Amino acid sequence: MEQRKKIIISIDGWSSCGKSTLAKQLAKELDYVYIDSGAMYRAITLFFLRNHIDWTKQKAVDDALKNIVLEFVYNAKSKQSEIHLNEENVEYVIRDLVIAEKVSDVAAIKAVREFAVAQQQLMGKKKAIVMDGRDIGTVVFPKAALKIFMTADNSVRVERRFKELFEKNPNITLEEVRNNLEMRDYIDSHREISPLRKADDAIVLDNSNLTMKQQFDIALKWAKEKISD
Ligand code: DC
Repeated sequence: MEQRKKIIISIDGWSSCGKSTLAKQLAKELDYVYIDSGAMYRAITLFFLRNHIDWTKQKAVDDALKNIVLEFVYNAKSKQSEIHLNEENVEYVIRDLVIAEKVSDVAAIKAVREFAVAQQQLMGKKKAIVMDGRDIGTVVFPKAALKIFMTADNSVRVERRFKELFEKNPNITLEEVRNNLEMRDYIDSHREISPLRKADDAIVLDNSNLTMKQQFDIALKWAKEKISD
């Protein structure tokens, strides 16, 4: 049987522009593994908050990281791999706004990034992976065969995120969601280590005016071109 070439696909971009939706669809279609790198930073943040870790202190961070084991475990019910923190499924709790408010600060810490990036690179060893995040095409897999940089208008992103969070928490306001997105985008793109930026060889996908199907068709075409290169 013909062996298809396996590649690494990186999807970076601003918060809430649909990176994970696209990454999941691509992984499913290509029979690749999907890795949500943001979930790792969120799970670390959850651990820090629960254990009252003062992450401004380097020693406290180093010690805490020694007690963190992250794993992606496939859940047959939800048909997706979900993140486990020290054997606890935290896939859903990490989506809370409480985590979103702190995660950019935690993700800016050097030791935290080294901890997460080393594991992400191991997961990409066998290729056949779609990983989304902020520094995947620039730092984690600078040689990824296909790099997508996603973007969308601010108002579109705020609206999408609001709808998603409102379903779980009807008390949430549009203003809170907008403030959080703006704050995260600012911190993620201005931090010293691995700030969010488009890799020089990444292709921009602006989905402000695209349906999910349209954006999927575009990205799948790019992926197939790279696979058959
Ligand atoms: O993709 P997300 O919103 O779940 O990511 C949560 C936070 O983690 C985001 O604000 C920035 C950070 N992050 C990062 O710094 N690097 C990544 N590769 C992925 C996420």
